[in-house]
Amino acid sequence: MDEMTLLNCLTRRRRSKRNTIKNPVPDATIHQLHGLISGTAATSHDGPVTACVQLIGGGVAAMDSFMSWIGGKKALRSMITASFPVHFERYIEVFGGAGWVLFCKQPGNHFEVFNDYNGYLTNLYRCVRDQPQELIERLRFVLNSRVDFERIKKTLSQGACADAVERAAMFYQLIRYSYASGLKSYAGQPHDIWANFPSIEQAHRRLAKVVIENKDFEKVIRQYDRPESFFYLDPPYYETEGYYFNVGEGGFTPQDHIRLCGTLMGMEGKFLLSYNDHPYIGELYGRPGIWIERVSRINNIRQRYDGGCLFDELLIANYNMRERANRQPTQISLFDYEKQAAQDET
Ligand SMILES: C[S@@+](CC[C@H](N)C(=O)[O-])C[C@H]1O[C@@H](n2cnc3c(N)ncnc32)[C@H](O)[C@@H]1O
Repeated sequence: MDEMTLLNCLTRRRRSKRNTIKNPVPDATIHQLHGLISGTAATSHDGPVTACVQLIGGGVAAMDSFMSWIGGKKALRSMITASFPVHFERYIEVFGGAGWVLFCKQPGNHFEVFNDYNGYLTNLYRCVRDQPQELIERLRFVLNSRVDFERIKKTLSQGACADAVERAAMFYQLIRYSYASGLKSYAGQPHDIWANFPSIEQAHRRLAKVVIENKDFEKVIRQYDRPESFFYLDPPYYETEGYYFNVGEGGFTPQDHIRLCGTLMGMEGKFLLSYNDHPYIGELYGRPGIWIERVSRINNIRQRYDGGCLFDELLIANYNMRERANRQPTQISLFDYEKQAAQDET
């Protein structure tokens, strides 16, 4: 069975047996499968398909982030969480951004930390966690207009907004109304901000017990490093360091890749790092005891004018990234699923 048949089969099953399925595949999962599957149509690479089977097997839809962000890991999140170690007691997401991986992972009983050096971003996260209704009320009657966008950008750059919820609402508008969420230029695209309110409320519940930090990566790693800690890190890509603002004096510099590597090599806990596939990064981390895997995903920005364009990324870890997949006791196969769906149809 090919991937599109699987998708059709799932969708049909959902429609015909809406009230009687024991372990239903939620619409969000089907929607996500569609993205994963259509993302693989142009390639023989089997990573995303593996990821989608894991999603079905778990029967749990990954939650979406309430925002978009440059370098967000939406397309890779299932593959990344499938590469997590089997056991850990503390989860620390060091370069948080839109938190696609945090929102994808199951909360579990462990301690979770979300960190980002951008203070506007962590203020927004705190407001989503602690004052979601106030934030929604501030967003309810905002306008998607160039004049307002430029005014908000100026106010934030001058540090002229003392109220935390107002600052969060302004920053959220910059994210939602800027081109490719780059915060710089007004996109001039239709966007229904009310449609984001349910995901803000959902994120509020998911973040309830998450500790939010606003620190440089080295400080947060040293603070939370223990043998039972697990760090997921998604730093600015090599040679795209300047994409991120409000992250300290000089921003993230090329030397920070070396500083990051040095910090990780000395740590007690486990780490999983995602990077662009650049020879420099391969050389930096090509060391004994370090696992490196190459994965492909659709290039979100170039996709707009170059359909099917793929982007290679590296997953780098100081443990065996396959340990979770190898331990899966039973993984439902595509054939099993087709058989099950056919039985349900009759
Ligand atoms: C590639 S993005 C992370 C994207 C995220 N994984 C997602 O799914 O949206 C990198 C993030 O690192 C943050 N950052 C930059 N320099 C940092 C530093 N020195 N310490 C911690 N975070 C930093 C940026 O603000 C940005 O949000």
